[in-house]
Amino acid sequence: MPPVESILVSEEVPQITPEAVSEAVDAALAAIASAGDTAQLKAARAAHTAEGSTLARLNASMRQVAPEHKAEFGKLVGQARGRVNQALAAREAELEEAETAARLEAERVDITAVASRARTGARFPISLLQEEIADIFVGMGWEVAEGPELEHEWFNFDALNFDEDHPARQEQDTFYVAPASRHLVMRTHTSPVQVRSMLDRELPVYVVCPGRVYRTDEFDATHLPVFTQVEGLVVDKGITMANLKGTLDHFAKVLFGPEARTRFRTNFFPFTEPSAELDLWHPTFKGGARWIEWGGCGMVNPNVLRAAGIDPEVYSGFAFGMGIERTLMFRSDVQDMRDMAEGDVRFSEQFGMVV
Ligand code: DAH
Repeated sequence: MPPVESILVSEEVPQITPEAVSEAVDAALAAIASAGDTAQLKAARAAHTAEGSTLARLNASMRQVAPEHKAEFGKLVGQARGRVNQALAAREAELEEAETAARLEAERVDITAVASRARTGARFPISLLQEEIADIFVGMGWEVAEGPELEHEWFNFDALNFDEDHPARQEQDTFYVAPASRHLVMRTHTSPVQVRSMLDRELPVYVVCPGRVYRTDEFDATHLPVFTQVEGLVVDKGITMANLKGTLDHFAKVLFGPEARTRFRTNFFPFTEPSAELDLWHPTFKGGARWIEWGGCGMVNPNVLRAAGIDPEVYSGFAFGMGIERTLMFRSDVQDMRDMAEGDVRFSEQFGMVV
């Protein structure tokens, strides 16, 4: 086994000469200048100034320099190291600045850019309003009733006291569903739910019935062939038109605010007697404080009570109905009803989760 000393690599100690020093400095400066980023500069620093580098080893050679030459060589090596360190510091500052600028550029946020986030959707404002209306009546102890959209002619017309030749029965208003022998229609209003409710439920009846209805109407800014109505029906002992007026007043104020007012104008509906057009007034309607037509109402016609097997001598009732799209138009100042049919999420989003 050889002695330990023979396997130790003896560190070669270079001779300090001006040439050796300037060669080391040139090599260091070249490496520093060509470092393209701070990582490369770090490598250059390690290669040219750290322990084991030529400059470090030249510096270590100072130990062997004769005392009378120490000052001279010390200055030579010291200045060389000084130049290299200065070049390192300068390049480091330069590279850091460039890297910061590049990062800022890469991370730049264009605050005017349109967000490309996927839309999560929105609730349909008609559904929201429908629920809110139902809530108002449920809050008074009423129940929510439903009926089919594909309805029998008897519920849609006959039981509601429509004459055989009432104009609404004509094809221009009603979608009849083939075969004609089955007498099925797409319900033209929510009023057939009145009859279904009276037949299905125990008396007294207090129901609100929101739902979709169908008419062969044009598709324009104020008409949709498929739209939504809400029907109200009360049948009890001693019900008068004052109950109807008080209920509708309350409904209008909850929905439109305490300044809202309602008024009746005489009208005709086959299923009510007397019948009235319901007008709504509000000080902040578009176009100023004014009356607008909101829906229809009246005292349930005795013939309708009889069709549902209720004795009109004992019971009386009131009913009303209005369009929900129209209601949303007044309430939220929507100009074109078609916006409610097109399903563009940007329209619905404006209403959030609460109308
Ligand atoms: N069904 C009527 C329509 O669609 C609205 C209506 C009027 C409903 C008077 C009623 C009412 O309950 O009493 O035009």
